[in-house]
Amino acid sequence: MTLFMEKAVISINGIITPASEAKIPVLDRGFIYGDSLYEVARTVNRTPFQLNEHFDRLWKSSSLCKMPFTFSRDELLKEVLQTIEAFKKNDSQSEVYTRIMITRGIGEMGLGKSAVQTKNQRVIYCKGFEPISDQKFTRGMSLCFSSRIRNDRRALDPAMKSGNYLNSVLAYLEAEERGFDDAILCNAHDQVTEGTTFNLFAVIKGVLRTAPLSIGILDGITRRDVIRVAKEQSINVLEEPIHKDELLAADEIFITSTLREVFPILKIEDRSFEHPGPITQKLRIAYREWAAQS
Ligand SMILES: Cc1ncc(COP(=O)(O)O)c(C=O)c1O
Repeated sequence: MTLFMEKAVISINGIITPASEAKIPVLDRGFIYGDSLYEVARTVNRTPFQLNEHFDRLWKSSSLCKMPFTFSRDELLKEVLQTIEAFKKNDSQSEVYTRIMITRGIGEMGLGKSAVQTKNQRVIYCKGFEPISDQKFTRGMSLCFSSRIRNDRRALDPAMKSGNYLNSVLAYLEAEERGFDDAILCNAHDQVTEGTTFNLFAVIKGVLRTAPLSIGILDGITRRDVIRVAKEQSINVLEEPIHKDELLAADEIFITSTLREVFPILKIEDRSFEHPGPITQKLRIAYREWAAQS
């Protein structure tokens, strides 16, 4: 058990338990069918960060997944804040990682509504987390192109943040086997979509490029903020499809996510990039300054 896990707390349907004792029934649909939704949020300076945006996306996922929630936004918010506070009592220093998981409920085998016999199950997992250090930032990370394509929007829309993560898990395992830190998924036309757990940006001929939402990616909260921060810094931003060959010809590449913020890529396959590049550094600083104030 890691140090973070020892202090971690989990709330199940509003009841707070030490993480090592938390249990959910085997007949939960999240376990049986991956029939669940989730969000990962964090604190900045020990204060919940962008919970509203995470809640908005969770409710959007609820609609995409045809999973009406049997609890209100206020009820969930109260539980999330209580769980964060319970964790903070166990750990007086760490920033807090918060994973909110909602399953369709518990029920007998069968896909239809009638098989679900309970309300949604709500699980909130809080543990400590270390924001990316300068040392890690300077090292950057390596990526490969996964041989697997991103789920097509018509199959399982990547905009829905569901607990069914096998598309990303298998891409990640492939990256590990090949000795890379992580993987990028393209679509069937060799256009870049996103990474296993992050959005991707490239600086190409002085323009900051990222795939458009319409291509089938998660509407990353950090992606949105970085686009806004970049525009405020007078950087040209273009949300247009990027072919994988164009990506390899970029000047700098970085990823974005709640936990990694703006994080540089040192190589993709055998192509190396300046890391961290000047725009990556500028955006990391500007994003962090904005996040610390919000
Ligand atoms: C597939 C995928 N894309 C992008 C992101 C980044 O989203 P956010 O910036 O909201 O954390 C994540 C984060 O979990 C993700 O899983």
